[in-house]
Amino acid sequence: MMLGLSQAWVRGLAALTTLGMFVVLVMGATVTNTGSAEGCGRSWPLCNGQFVPEFTVSTAIEYSHRAVTGVEGVLVVALTVAMLGRWRGDREVLVLAVLMLGTLLLQAGLGAGAVLVPQSPFMLATHFGVSLVAFASTFLSAAVVFERTREEPGASRLAPRRFRHWVTGVGVYVLAVVYLGAYVRHANVSLACADWPLCNGQVVPSLEGPTAVVFAHRVAAVGAVLLLAWLVHLARDSGIGQRTAWAGFGLGVLQAVSGAVVVWTRLGLFSTLAHAAIMALLFGALALLTRQVLASGTRSLRLGRRLWGGPEEVQGRLHKTERQADRGDVGILDHPHDEAEHRQWRGTTRRSEPQLELTAHRQLDALDASPAGAQIAHADLNWLW
Ligand code: HEM
Repeated sequence: MMLGLSQAWVRGLAALTTLGMFVVLVMGATVTNTGSAEGCGRSWPLCNGQFVPEFTVSTAIEYSHRAVTGVEGVLVVALTVAMLGRWRGDREVLVLAVLMLGTLLLQAGLGAGAVLVPQSPFMLATHFGVSLVAFASTFLSAAVVFERTREEPGASRLAPRRFRHWVTGVGVYVLAVVYLGAYVRHANVSLACADWPLCNGQVVPSLEGPTAVVFAHRVAAVGAVLLLAWLVHLARDSGIGQRTAWAGFGLGVLQAVSGAVVVWTRLGLFSTLAHAAIMALLFGALALLTRQVLASGTRSLRLGRRLWGGPEEVQGRLHKTERQADRGDVGILDHPHDEAEHRQWRGTTRRSEPQLELTAHRQLDALDASPAGAQIAHADLNWLW
């Protein structure tokens, strides 16, 4: 089946909005790293009180950041409308839309606040954290759009509980490392450890004041890279999110290397920009992995419930699928599945949740193995969206 024009259009919009959010984040880092925040004076939304200001380098940097943010705002609104128009009533789409719009508005507010009133290191670090969430939610929205407009959907496998817990834990840990890094930057203690890999010539420096904060960021960074490697191991074991886990690990290593370059170049502009930009990509990869792992659990559980649930439920849902297919919402249902085949998989007993989870897991493997089964799995998963 060919991709419809409107599907290609919404995919293009999603990709452009994600790229735009990345550019906004990197430009924001350029504004702070070049000290251009006051390039427009203490004036917002106008620049030095004018719509078209007189240009100096810092004015150009700050003004172009504001202009690109404005265009990105329009893209985010357009993507939100396109997603809600297609998948209205879908909780995941709703949450992502609220996050995208909410964080963009919050960022604009924090940015305006930073220009109008001098900010504490804590507030500046929060601004960076919010921009990461804004980028990650846009990136996830694009992932959702691409997944739902795909011609051939893949079958889902259930992620082991252990993997789900580790992914969540590592996400929280990396956020703590991010906050430490942003604090280092905004408290102006970045070179309290003046060399790398040693810190002021010592493996472990005397831990007081700024040195302690910077050293903590480095030690925490080692922990982050090790944990990202552990996620690759878990992903390979379960066969879920392997490419994303590898991307996360690769970006973690790059992040650490760029951190070393930040020190060697004494806060060179390109190295500090790279440290912020790679961070956004790493955060995006972690958000995607979290979604892949957690969503696989929910979907498999719901699939299990459906396969062994009551017949009325199956009837109702089949009916719904057909209606969705008619409307074009489920474009991938090439071969509507056979109800008799369904009954064969369904059985009649009701099971407890852990049993259900386990059986769904096994059953999905079986479904994957046979062409007819794969067809059922694809149709089911589609419609479970
Ligand atoms: C995976 C590990 C790492 C993560 C997640 C991380 C994260 C961050 C973040 C989010 C910032 C704030 C960036 C900004 O506000 O623009 C930062 C700043 C910083 N990080 Fe890291 N970092 C990591 C590894 C390292 C390593 C290994 C080093 C040193 C060798 C390092 C040195 C620095 C320095 C010096 C700054 C301050 C930069 C500035 O003043 O612009 N980081 N880090």
